[in-house]
Amino acid sequence: MFVVLLICLFLLALLCASWLYYSKYRSLIALTSDWPSGPSWPLIGHAHYFLNIAPERMFEHLRELYAKYGRENRLKFWFGTELNLFTGNVHDIAELSTSLAYNQKSEHYGVLLNWLGEGLLISKGEKWLQRRKLLTPAFHFTILKQFVEVFEQQASVLLAQLSASVNGEPLELFKPLSLYTLDVICETSMGVSIQAQTLAESDYVRAVHIMKHVTHQRLSHLFYHFDFTYRWTPLAWEERKALKTLHGFTTRIIEQRRAEQLTKPTTLSANGTAELGIKRKSNFLDILLNSEVNGEPLGNLDIREEVDTFIFEGYETTATALQFLFYNLATHAECQQRCYEELIEVFGHDPVHFEGLKNLRYIELCIKESLRLYPPVPAFARKVVKQCQLNGLTVPAGTNITVLPMYIGRLPEHFEEPDLFRPERFAAQSAGNTSNPFAFVPFSAGARNCVGQKFAMLEMKTVLVHVLRRFEFSYAGNQAPELMFGVTLCTRLPLLFHIKERSVA
Ligand code: HEM
Repeated sequence: MFVVLLICLFLLALLCASWLYYSKYRSLIALTSDWPSGPSWPLIGHAHYFLNIAPERMFEHLRELYAKYGRENRLKFWFGTELNLFTGNVHDIAELSTSLAYNQKSEHYGVLLNWLGEGLLISKGEKWLQRRKLLTPAFHFTILKQFVEVFEQQASVLLAQLSASVNGEPLELFKPLSLYTLDVICETSMGVSIQAQTLAESDYVRAVHIMKHVTHQRLSHLFYHFDFTYRWTPLAWEERKALKTLHGFTTRIIEQRRAEQLTKPTTLSANGTAELGIKRKSNFLDILLNSEVNGEPLGNLDIREEVDTFIFEGYETTATALQFLFYNLATHAECQQRCYEELIEVFGHDPVHFEGLKNLRYIELCIKESLRLYPPVPAFARKVVKQCQLNGLTVPAGTNITVLPMYIGRLPEHFEEPDLFRPERFAAQSAGNTSNPFAFVPFSAGARNCVGQKFAMLEMKTVLVHVLRRFEFSYAGNQAPELMFGVTLCTRLPLLFHIKERSVA
């Protein structure tokens, strides 16, 4: 009898909650009725579609949901009271990229706040606009040109690391690549070498790895997602410790550099070179220290947010892109050979230079094709603050809109035989060339696109020139990568490669 009473009470509570939920969200449901979706359950909405889906199945699962319930590459999910619109529609992406109504990032980026503060990636409104204006010139080619020397110096360390694996056990290439990109981004951001490639066990490198783990965990587990539960967990304790190291390091460098500037003011010469007593290449930190917003110099905290954002954005994204590029070249020997022939034609065995990198046309096609198939940032999302219309469909205030570059990049209406690695499709005259730029968005698009895009392209080309000039790669795995969504695109099992010295005829 008692059990029956309990069940009745439970059902009654469920009914009341459903009624409250429905009456509150009824108008939102009506407003978004034009957005296609699968059947939903009371209270949890569409969350049941994602229960028990293995992470490495998630992308295929989403493709299946799009195919089954989507229309014009749009799909709607309610997760409880949270409305999420997923769009792979190029017209939507064009509007998302160009209209200020979609300028604000979704709440999911909040898991990065402790580390990055309100740096360029997360900031919004006026603050974002001012910072973007201030930072865009830092990626001018006169500055990027100088960074090629850093890419080059660090690449010689990478070669020494790789040579230890020649003809040996298969190598998990991502590890040396990510230490390389960490060295590069720290040196170009702060003007200091952290020697991650040779001191992989240093406190700084360990702290970066911990933050990667923390961010991944917070995005994957609901329990860690909400600050009020997360802050009491051992993971939060680990994060606080890692942040002490990371913020402490960046702050020390900023203070040192500011002090140096007071005694020997830095001026950027016409070619972007900083004069600091000794001649030093410019770096993002010096540029920030010499910048003003509304006539005021930036404070240490403002600068730290931006430097940390560059490090976060520039390190793992580029290493991921390189890993998949090597995978594609290792599984397409003829493309690897063509890249080699091109780089020899442009540089021979001489050092790399900025002008030559621009002439690596085939290599650029390979990088783009690899980014299309394996975009390092697998998802980006916006929060709509004011109700608006997206190509005639209503988007209520509070909605999250998510874009998956890998979904769009593999749509047959934009790319013939989309699952094949065919670099030529990006050549201007190719028949398979997509005419719509919003179908290829590994760097996002429009106002909030990746400010470091050209930097990343130059860095990837420099690595490829150095590594392919010396080594040949083949894939040691026997199956295609099983892809998983993280902050960056990752694989269930590490990708392993055989490396051998290139035999030059
Ligand atoms: C292959 C490498 C890279 C890829 C695929 C990539 C991709 C992206 C994407 C998709 C976004 C938009 C994210 C969003 O809307 O949430 C973004 C933003 C950004 N990226 Fe990159 N990125 C790469 C390398 C870099 C590098 C090397 C830097 C710095 C040197 C950098 C700095 C930034 C910054 C600061 C933003 C925020 C821009 C803003 O909101 O105004 N990225 N990146």
